[in-house]
Amino acid sequence: MSTEATPHAKPTYNVKNPFIAKVTKAYDLSGPGAPKNTRHYELDLTGSGLEYTPGDSLAVQPTNDPALVADTLAALGLTGDEIVKHAKTGADVPLRQTLTEANLLTEVDNKLIKAIAEKVPHSPVNAFIAPEAKDELKKYLWGRFVIDLLLENPDAKFEAQEFVNCLKKLNIRLYSISSSLKAHPESVHLTVATVKYQSHGRERGGVASTFLAERVVVGETPIPVFVNQGKGFRLPDPSEDVPVIFCGPGTGIAPFRAFLEERKATGAKGKAWLFFGEVSEKTCFFYKDQFEGYLADGTLTNLTTAWSRDQQEKIYVQNKMLEHSAELYAWLEQGAIFYVCGDASRMAVDVDKALHTIIEKEGGKTPDEAILYMAALKEAKRYRRDVY
Ligand SMILES: Cc1cc2nc3c(=O)[nH]c(=O)nc-3n(C[C@H](O)[C@H](O)[C@H](O)COP(=O)(O)OP(=O)(O)OC[C@H]3O[C@@H](n4cnc5c(N)ncnc54)[C@H](O)[C@@H]3O)c2cc1C
Ligand SMILES: NC(=O)c1ccc[n+]([C@@H]2O[C@H](COP(=O)([O-])OP(=O)(O)OC[C@H]3O[C@@H](n4cnc5c(N)ncnc54)[C@H](OP(=O)(O)O)[C@@H]3O)[C@@H](O)[C@H]2O)c1
Repeated sequence: MSTEATPHAKPTYNVKNPFIAKVTKAYDLSGPGAPKNTRHYELDLTGSGLEYTPGDSLAVQPTNDPALVADTLAALGLTGDEIVKHAKTGADVPLRQTLTEANLLTEVDNKLIKAIAEKVPHSPVNAFIAPEAKDELKKYLWGRFVIDLLLENPDAKFEAQEFVNCLKKLNIRLYSISSSLKAHPESVHLTVATVKYQSHGRERGGVASTFLAERVVVGETPIPVFVNQGKGFRLPDPSEDVPVIFCGPGTGIAPFRAFLEERKATGAKGKAWLFFGEVSEKTCFFYKDQFEGYLADGTLTNLTTAWSRDQQEKIYVQNKMLEHSAELYAWLEQGAIFYVCGDASRMAVDVDKALHTIIEKEGGKTPDEAILYMAALKEAKRYRRDVY
């Protein structure tokens, strides 16, 4: 077998060889008064040969906020022009460059804690050095960036390279792709919540989500990206008459917008039901017109929404699933695939519980029988989760 690349071989993009994309369009999905900012991004893939399938995610390599880099350098008492090894390529570069491109400044590595403890015997971090203090250290570091440790320990002086050696690497972030190539050739769309919070008296931002929201200039900023294949998070063949149920509150909506665009483009058979939840119908009904259009043209059979803060009591997607339990169970009995995407720690757990309740109630099953029913769904790949 020849190992030579064929002339038409598709380019492979990966962490070492990303495609450099540019944003062509970016806008708010959340409206004024929403408690957080969720945004839609479109990246141009023209000429890249980069392909994806709905259910994949896009790996995005962000850079750090230059203001945070400058503040960190000031706290170190270094200029940024000192020559060090780039944390990823190993090339000789100015300190400012590796701090911008390759080092994580928003999380503290244990190596930095140990170095500070050695340099400053009276530092509070000495209390967390022992392995038994692991949990205490985690609590202490919650909401603290590298700069906080430097400002709290002004006697800890670092050489430039020594400092870089005490940092973690700035890695890619994954975003569920929210478009279909069939609907948007040469383009990839993302749906991203901008991470912002306050801690220890400072405004903080998530690296990649604020890079996209605040530092990327449309049509200009180069963004290294590559596709990360969704393991098993796939639509059935469009010719199969299989019902699909999508449960995607918040940014969990992303892969389902891609799935629905794909279903429309392929004229997929089978019924489709979307459960979407956000805080308020007025400020956070992401892609409202598009989804209502799908309901009108039959791409969607059912569209069920849950607005958690539009009334006194919280209403979540799982409350709506329970409200429609008879129909949802009937779809499962007809062979439906149930997909869930979004928050792993609370939402996905509660949606799982709701499925058990529905199967017990509508199927007349005991809790143990419902567990077996769910296990059979998973075994048949009819319960698919993409949670983070
Ligand atoms: C497969 C997959 C798909 C995903 N798809 C999407 C998607 O479609 N859309 C989307 O928006 N996200 C998605 N994510 C999440 C995304 O990858 C990033 O994790 C997210 O955007 C945050 O990255 P960031 O770099 O902005 O924040 P980071 O710099 O990584 O900061 C986040 C960290 O900040 C800290 N933090 C946050 N809030 C607080 C607080 N109040 N107090 C103290 N510390 C806090 C926490 O340590 C948290 O882990 C997905 C993740 C995975 C794994
Ligand atoms: N790993 C990471 O770094 C990272 C980064 C970003 C997001 N995330 C996770 O992804 C989640 C998604 O964030 P998002 O901005 O898309 O939206 P979100 O915070 O999940 O909120 C979307 C909707 O879900 C509701 N909700 C809250 N708890 C719920 C529950 N137990 N069951 C069902 N619905 C529930 C929210 O209601 P209320 O808010 O009114 O309660 C809101 O209406 C975040 O909560 C976070 O956990 C992780």
